[in-house]
Amino acid sequence: MGFNNWNSTHCRREFNEKMVKGIADLFVSKGLRKAGYQYVNIDDCWAKSARDGNGNLVPDPVRFPHGIKALADYVHARGLKFGLYTSAGTKTCDREGFPGGLDHERQDAKLFASWGVDYLKYDNCNNEGRDARTRYRAMRDAIERTGRPIVLSVCEWGENKPWEWAGDVGHLWRTTGDITDTWSSMLSIAKQNRALAEYAGPGHWNDPDMLEVGNGGMTATEYRSHFTLWSVMAAPLLIGTDLRKASAETFDILTNRDVIAVDQDPLGRQGTVVSSEGGRTVLSKPLANGDRAVVLFNETDGPVDITTRASAVGLPAASSYTLHDLWSKERSVSHDGVIGASVPSHGAVIYRVGAEGGVAAPPSGTSDLSALAPTSVSNGWGPVETDTSNGEQAPDDGSPMTIEGVPYRRGLGAHAPSEVTYHLGGSCSRMTVDVGLDDESVRDGSVVFRVYRDYTKVADSGLLTVDDPAERLTADLSGGSVLRLVVTDGGNGRTSDHADWAAPRITCA
Ligand code: GLA
Repeated sequence: MGFNNWNSTHCRREFNEKMVKGIADLFVSKGLRKAGYQYVNIDDCWAKSARDGNGNLVPDPVRFPHGIKALADYVHARGLKFGLYTSAGTKTCDREGFPGGLDHERQDAKLFASWGVDYLKYDNCNNEGRDARTRYRAMRDAIERTGRPIVLSVCEWGENKPWEWAGDVGHLWRTTGDITDTWSSMLSIAKQNRALAEYAGPGHWNDPDMLEVGNGGMTATEYRSHFTLWSVMAAPLLIGTDLRKASAETFDILTNRDVIAVDQDPLGRQGTVVSSEGGRTVLSKPLANGDRAVVLFNETDGPVDITTRASAVGLPAASSYTLHDLWSKERSVSHDGVIGASVPSHGAVIYRVGAEGGVAAPPSGTSDLSALAPTSVSNGWGPVETDTSNGEQAPDDGSPMTIEGVPYRRGLGAHAPSEVTYHLGGSCSRMTVDVGLDDESVRDGSVVFRVYRDYTKVADSGLLTVDDPAERLTADLSGGSVLRLVVTDGGNGRTSDHADWAAPRITCA
């Protein structure tokens, strides 16, 4: 969450030190920092059109008379982080063509780190047709060498399907071309981005581009839809309007804490489309406490009723559901599981929906994890099976779990790529589990098992193949609100990746 000047100023002269400082001040005085906005990022046109005699980039002395380091210091002094821009090409994207980072990765990354840069947006113009992966990896490696943690934003506009390869290159990647301040642009980008939900997760996010909220080309209803859709898609929320001129309505949209909480939910899942027909779309996003964010979105030119059911959006069976409308703040109860609303033209209703009784924290003492209900499941091949191997795609078609001949009575039969989450509610201390490829992985399966406590990795199996015996993992869960069990492909494709979480035991207070 943060700010970037591009959508508001492009390369115009009003993009300068005074503006950026003004935004940083407003982040503090208007409560944006408190609401979670952290990064103050500057885009193209910050540099002079030529490097200096030592090959270093030089800040434009008219826009930034005190340099970039002083600006970063100013931002840091306000408890915020600072972001900068360049391109993985010989020149940046603006017509004026400022020097880019291609073949200057180490020198530029070192300079950025010395200035205190916390975030780098790395664009794709003037790349001379060179391989995207190689160009972006070069900057990743150069950043790593500096020793400074810097968020790397891969901005190649979805041209080379970065969702398939940039997970270990950048922390986010643009999925589309540039947004403009129009309903049709926003809508088209939302549609492209929502199809990519399975690729997003903590530390590797789909980026449908920066917000246009407040820039004047859409109605307030459309801007609320824009903000709602970005949030249900767990998108980066980078404010793209000049906050020094923003209306109260713009601030209200950008600081809606309940909608922001959906975007920033620690489970880190991108919402998916439940149904979409005739311009009426329902999206659902699983949340860390077992609730769902449900969006009812109306693309049509008149008001419509949009309805879905608790079971369709992934909520468990319950005698009733509480619906919290995150824009109107009204609360209601559904006894029949119907979730619906009359939605204005181009509008979006977003509910936080919880099943009566909620999701209980695990029982005290040590229990079999496979006996507890997960809060969300995604799996590469059919469902995750309980107490058997994964089997084929049908439910309940696994076999008794066996790893290198050792049988297990209890566990989860997964298949890469897989993620199963549980609500811990801060009450658990420890997990033990034996992990390995099930003996039914007859071919050359290979996977990595990882356990996360919220966003922190607390156990990692390393690469396991079909010939490896089970490996015992022990994980510290103290204070965590969410347990995430993740299996990723070990690098040779997703075939035969039948991954067993065998005898998973969890200890809670
Ligand atoms: C590209 C990017 C934009 C912006 C401009 C700057 O178009 O996609 O987000 O950074 O370059 O020139």
